[in-house]
Amino acid sequence: MVFSVKTFNNINQIGLKELGNQFQIDGDLAENPDAYIIRSQNLHDVDFPSQLKAIARAGAGTNNIPVDKASEQGIVVFNTPGANANAVKEAVIASILLSARDYIAANTWTNTLTGDDVPKQVEAGKKQFAGTEIRGKKLGVIGLGAIGSRIANDARRLGMTVFGYDPYVSIDAAWNISHHVRRVKELKEIFETCDYITVHVPLTPDTKHTFNAETFALMQKGTTIINFARAELVDNAALFDAIETGVVKRYITDFGTEELLNKEGITVFPHVGGSTEEAELNCAIMAGQEIRQFMETGEITNSVNFPNIHQPLSAPYRITLINKNVPNIVARISTAVSDLNINIDNIINRSKGDYAYTLLDLDESDKAKVDELVAKFEENDNIVRVRLIKGN
Ligand SMILES: NC(=O)c1ccc[n+]([C@@H]2O[C@H](COP(=O)([O-])OP(=O)(O)OC[C@H]3O[C@@H](n4cnc5c(N)ncnc54)[C@H](O)[C@@H]3O)[C@@H](O)[C@H]2O)c1
Repeated sequence: MVFSVKTFNNINQIGLKELGNQFQIDGDLAENPDAYIIRSQNLHDVDFPSQLKAIARAGAGTNNIPVDKASEQGIVVFNTPGANANAVKEAVIASILLSARDYIAANTWTNTLTGDDVPKQVEAGKKQFAGTEIRGKKLGVIGLGAIGSRIANDARRLGMTVFGYDPYVSIDAAWNISHHVRRVKELKEIFETCDYITVHVPLTPDTKHTFNAETFALMQKGTTIINFARAELVDNAALFDAIETGVVKRYITDFGTEELLNKEGITVFPHVGGSTEEAELNCAIMAGQEIRQFMETGEITNSVNFPNIHQPLSAPYRITLINKNVPNIVARISTAVSDLNINIDNIINRSKGDYAYTLLDLDESDKAKVDELVAKFEENDNIVRVRLIKGN
């Protein structure tokens, strides 16, 4: 069986190798592909080809994909969470160091010097850039997911005292967080205690303006705020006041808007936190692995519109079903199978929102009988997509 993948936006070739030799990439089958692998391609105005079963975004956000429309058409949308976490972590560690010692201003000043006595001028003027060290300083990390947990651990190794706040931390992330990181139950404790605060939460109505006049008022003078998560987590008007009064010593962000540029105490980077060669490669590798697993076994890892689902395929045939999340669906599926005198080897059904996904493994080698069952499922209005996968 050959699967067809159409790529957009120059996906890293090493990542595409993860697909293995059962996949044709951008070949003559790409007019009606089984899967897309994309980066920033906007799919909002695109009619999906009838065979399209999966879209993998090599990156974390899926704003460029109409996820609801994909669900309605039985298309599983994948992303690559955490693939650029190390890149963002390194950018944040660099930012902490940049705030402690103003290397950017120091370099700018040094470049203004002229004459034979530059070394003398350097010695005379360097005091203004003495700065401080980060060892022993307090760092607050808000959000301990893929990025925040890495920062917490590494800042600890650099000698910082680290406080972490995340009421919804995942079990996987929690396992990876050093027991030296102090768990904080109230966000206010971070604002009141820390010299440096870095934020790594998604933008939601709950997290919008996490930094506002009220929270700046809790901070001690000279606090550094680092925001590589989303612009709207900070209320800029309140930030300008907090810089004016010395509460915020420096704000370092990856999200430039005109009002932030060329301002004393503010350093803006052009959204480069997650953009390293390695991160791009990691994203492509993860996207390739997700598509390969889904097409070859029907298993789902890291989908934004369907649940994670894993089950080794040992039966002669597996049917995968994407169905509307209606009552008794598992019973109805089981009845359809037993009506054809077929035994079920295994069945898993998991839902996410309005849709559910079923892996149905059949203890039946007679292809004609299995095809009859597939045809029955295809007639069912509650079932949006049916696939038949041959076991080994
Ligand atoms: N600058 C960049 O290039 C770049 C790259 C990747 C991600 N990001 C941003 O960084 C954010 C974090 O990325 P990640 O990969 O670590 O995501 P993640 O999903 O692994 O972690 C997010 C964490 O935030 C926690 N959280 C959610 N709501 C919270 C709240 N109200 N208070 C405290 N914690 C809360 C979650 O429990 C989770 O542990 C993303 O949402 C994205 O906006 C930026």
